[in-house]
Amino acid sequence: MREGLKVLHAVSEPLGIEWAIEDVPCGGQYYLEQGDLDWPSDAPQKCDAADLILLGAVGWPDPAGTGGPVLMKDNKMAGFSPVIGNRMRLNLYANVRPIKLYPGVQHRIHGGHKQIWEAGKVDMVIIRENTEGLYAPTGGKLAPGGKADVAIDTRVITRRACEQVIRHAFELCKRRNKGAPKDGKLRVTAIIKDNVLHGCQLFRDVFFEIGAEYPEIEKDTAIVDAFTQWLVGQPEYYDVCVTSNMFGDIVTDLASTLQGGMGMAVGGNIGKHNAMFEPIHGSAPKHAGKDKVNPIAMILSVKEGLEWLAARKDDATLTKAAEAIEAAVVEVLEKGETLTYDLVGNDRASKCSEVGSAIAEAAVRKLG
Ligand SMILES: NC(=O)c1ccc[n+]([C@@H]2O[C@H](COP(=O)([O-])OP(=O)(O)OC[C@H]3O[C@@H](n4cnc5c(N)ncnc54)[C@H](O)[C@@H]3O)[C@@H](O)[C@H]2O)c1
Repeated sequence: MREGLKVLHAVSEPLGIEWAIEDVPCGGQYYLEQGDLDWPSDAPQKCDAADLILLGAVGWPDPAGTGGPVLMKDNKMAGFSPVIGNRMRLNLYANVRPIKLYPGVQHRIHGGHKQIWEAGKVDMVIIRENTEGLYAPTGGKLAPGGKADVAIDTRVITRRACEQVIRHAFELCKRRNKGAPKDGKLRVTAIIKDNVLHGCQLFRDVFFEIGAEYPEIEKDTAIVDAFTQWLVGQPEYYDVCVTSNMFGDIVTDLASTLQGGMGMAVGGNIGKHNAMFEPIHGSAPKHAGKDKVNPIAMILSVKEGLEWLAARKDDATLTKAAEAIEAAVVEVLEKGETLTYDLVGNDRASKCSEVGSAIAEAAVRKLG
């Protein structure tokens, strides 16, 4: 977040954009300090009133040594409120994850760094339904005698949520107007498991109902398990994909490998009136405080946020800021001199703050 804000301030100054930044502490460490809340009690109002919400990752290992994250008294992860709480309260129904491979990015495979997929052949967006599915907080545990014996997670799929997220996918496909790298066709792919799951049958039916309103866009479906191997083997086939909550959570982490790993992957949580942008990675606690991890996912989250706000406010200055950030990221990646360990290995690694500064300086040059 520190590097994301560094870049935001760097591009804003020459463009005359002023921000009132509200800092909202949250997450596992905050909960351990405070004892009963995972963010301050006025945080929801601050988020509701914000033009744009940027979220750093939450989650901290339980000091009791359970191997899991710090849990609150209600058994939810400390950090639930800013992440899932904001998604639910603000109805941020579309989790939009661009999967774009920039030139110069190497992939970490077998512990080494190689160019595997070609830049230009990976340029898709996967949209995940963000408010229900298996993550709807409707399940529970039965614990006769105090020991958990039965655990139930209920997968909730509603027509309303399907409609919202599927329409978002078709609209985005039309607005991007890029098509799939393989054949330039505008294509929306629904990732489902409709041969088994009732919820996926409903999702599929709504997909074709809404898709009928977009005759210029090809409608495609893929069974989620088969999709994972097509995603890796022929990513150039995909333009915009849309899926339910947990399938999307899993396939987008896999898809991050195509773009250089978790340090490069961004997620926008978008609703009708609000949006929250975040890297898709978690808090990577084993690296915390070492000035080591890749800040590009956070920096690109700022860029995505600016693009969303620019469209909402019809503000070309915000678009310029976003374009300068992306151009700066591309420049720093192509030069390959100032990058973190995940992209170039430990021997040649720069610090997180050095990468942030290199991108901030390049972004200001782009505006000059
Ligand atoms: N939205 C969120 O805030 C969010 C999302 C996922 C997980 N979490 C939480 O984060 C904590 C850690 O979860 P995890 O270890 O499963 O996932 P993680 O994403 O934090 O880390 C997994 C691995 O990904 C790599 N990685 C992550 N971010 C990176 C970056 N910026 N640069 C380079 N490499 C990076 C590291 O190798 C790291 O060990 C848990 O408490 C979890 O609940 C939070």
